[in-house]
Amino acid sequence: MKQTLRPRRMRISEGVRSLVRETSLSVKDFVYPIFVVPGEKVKEEISSLPGCYHLSVDEALKVAEEVVSLGIPSVEVFGLPAYKDEIGSSAWDMTSPVQQAIKAIKEKFPELVIIGDVCLCQYTSHGHCGQLCGQYVDNDETLKLLAKVAVSQAKAGADMVAPSDMMDGRVAAIRQALDESGYQNVSIMSYAVKYASAYYGPFRDAAHSTPQFGDRRSYQMDPANSREALKEVALDTAEGADIIMVKPALSYLDIVRQVRGTTHLPVAVYNVSGEYAMVKAAAANGWIDEKRIVLETLLSMKRAGADMIITYHALDAARWLAEK
Ligand code: PBG
Ligand code: ZN
Repeated sequence: MKQTLRPRRMRISEGVRSLVRETSLSVKDFVYPIFVVPGEKVKEEISSLPGCYHLSVDEALKVAEEVVSLGIPSVEVFGLPAYKDEIGSSAWDMTSPVQQAIKAIKEKFPELVIIGDVCLCQYTSHGHCGQLCGQYVDNDETLKLLAKVAVSQAKAGADMVAPSDMMDGRVAAIRQALDESGYQNVSIMSYAVKYASAYYGPFRDAAHSTPQFGDRRSYQMDPANSREALKEVALDTAEGADIIMVKPALSYLDIVRQVRGTTHLPVAVYNVSGEYAMVKAAAANGWIDEKRIVLETLLSMKRAGADMIITYHALDAARWLAEK
């Protein structure tokens, strides 16, 4: 007798499905990005990122409180400084919004894991991620500045620093500077695999970090390449990275899978601004079921191999997961 193979038996009820489910999504997977600005009592919605805000430090504390109450383990802090110059010196100014926010949040919520984004593009007058030499970003001069940014964030109380600049050798430079300053326990989440992507558009509006000339293709990766991703991972691992990030997430899940297969380090993905904005726009038009789309998308990132997800959906997703 011909026997029909019946995989549907493993889908017959929620109980069975839950027993055989391979991947899970939890509030403990999330990192919530916040944008801090100078001033007081500032809470302005970012038009390109509906549901996300420019926050002064006092307002950022309220958001941190919400993050903690939802059980989200971590925030990543981005800043818009009070001033910009050629070398981005407000990036390591202890009175800048990022350093002030890190300090205030750490004091009030010591258990919350605070990650500082280490880059210069929000702080330079030209909007590039490093110090210029003519039209070109000078790699080795930039390393010295990035090290200062990382140390200033560690000094403010950051648990981790996350360099997003894509200079060569930055992980080693930052590790050395942190160690020399007594911050051996501050970890480095490296944006090891960061592509030159159109998906960062809404973030650049939010962070006022659009390059004033040219683009970032001489430092961020070519979207056509995957072997290069593995090379970046190997280098950052050798330089002492603690966590490897792949960014963007959604259209790079093949890369996440490959990176997962080659590193023993935890893998983070950044569900970037353009990915978020597309979902929000379609949802606002009633074209998609936002909750289901978001939870399915985040789950797919876990399935591809991510251990953690940096996402603007974190607050909503945390609430939806708690309902289930
Ligand atoms: C800055 C930085 C960017 C993002 C994080 N850090 C933008 C860029 O490289 O242009 C993108 C985040 C997002 O789009 O959500 N180095
Ligand atoms: Zn940058």
